[in-house]
This record gives sequence, structure tokens and C-alpha cells, in this order.
Amino acid sequence: MKIIYPGSFDPITLGHLDIINRVSEKFDEVYIAILNNRNKNSLFTVEERIEIIEDACKDLKNVRVVSFSGLLVDYAKKIDCKLIVRGLREISDYEKEVQMALMNRELDKDLETLFLVSNAKYSFVSSSLVKEIIYFGGDISNFVPELAYKLLKERYNIN
Ligand code: PNS
Repeated sequence: MKIIYPGSFDPITLGHLDIINRVSEKFDEVYIAILNNRNKNSLFTVEERIEIIEDACKDLKNVRVVSFSGLLVDYAKKIDCKLIVRGLREISDYEKEVQMALMNRELDKDLETLFLVSNAKYSFVSSSLVKEIIYFGGDISNFVPELAYKLLKERYNIN
């Protein structure tokens, strides 16, 4: 069975990777789908985000990294996938995530969303916080994969 893990992944964090590792053990094929949203101010290009995720997932043979634009339901249909996975960190994620899951199922009644509770180790980690912390000189090496750390340091001119 296929599962799709959509997101901005700007950049991917170890919390996201924990979700990917867990679903890759349970499903035949995992599509990590990066939203290609031209209106959103992203730090990394889609190509850079793909490179970071492919590097972090190089040992997971059933994981594919793709990008999509437009509606997630349309992309899921295109690749014949009927299950979305999203991670839930704190209660604050719940409201937005349930709204998206309900809307996606309204748009396509065959599409279900599976929620995985994030690893407690990373429940406070988000891409935006990681960017803010490194911007102000804090250490984020424990929160992102190696290549993301390297590219973040380059982007913010940190040695
Ligand atoms: O990592 P994010 O930014 O929280 O991911 C949000 C994402 C990409 C899953 C969501 O914005 C999305 O699916 N966007 C694609 C457009 C779409 O289908 N919007 C309606 C969602 S109900």
C-alpha cells in the first residue's frame, strides 16, 4: 500500500524524518511530496529540499521524493494513492490538521488521513523555529539532518 506525506519541508527536520522512518516500515511505498508553492516565501528551492530529503532517506529504499503544485487531492489521485500521513506534535497542530483532513476527505471521499503522534523528542521542533534559531546564532544541529544543517549554515553565513 502507498502512502503520501505532504508538506513544505523547508527544511525537513528530524521530527519529519522520524515520521518517514516509521511509515516506511509499515507501507510498501512512501511518497514525500513537497508543495511547490510559488507564493510562499521559502528559504530553500524545491530542488534543494528534494536533495536534502533524498540524502537523509538514502537508506530507505521504498521512499520517493516528489514535488507537486495545486491541490493535494489531485496529486494523490494522479499517483493512485488513497492515504495521507501527517504528524501531530502538540495540541496546537490538531485544529489545523483536522480541518485539512476533513476538507481533503470532502474533496475526495476515498482519501483518508492517518495521524502519527510525533516522537516526544522532537515534539517542539518545527522548520520555522529551526530557521529562527539559526538566524539568531543558536545551535540547531540536533534538529535537522546533516545536509540541511550544512545548507542552513551556508545560507546564514555561519562557520
Ligand atoms: O508542512 P505544511 O506547510 O504544514 O504542509 C501543508 C500542506 C502542504 C500539506 C498543505 O498546505 C497542502 O496540502 N497544500 C496543497 C494545496 C491543498 O491541497 N490545499 C487544501 C488543503 S485542505
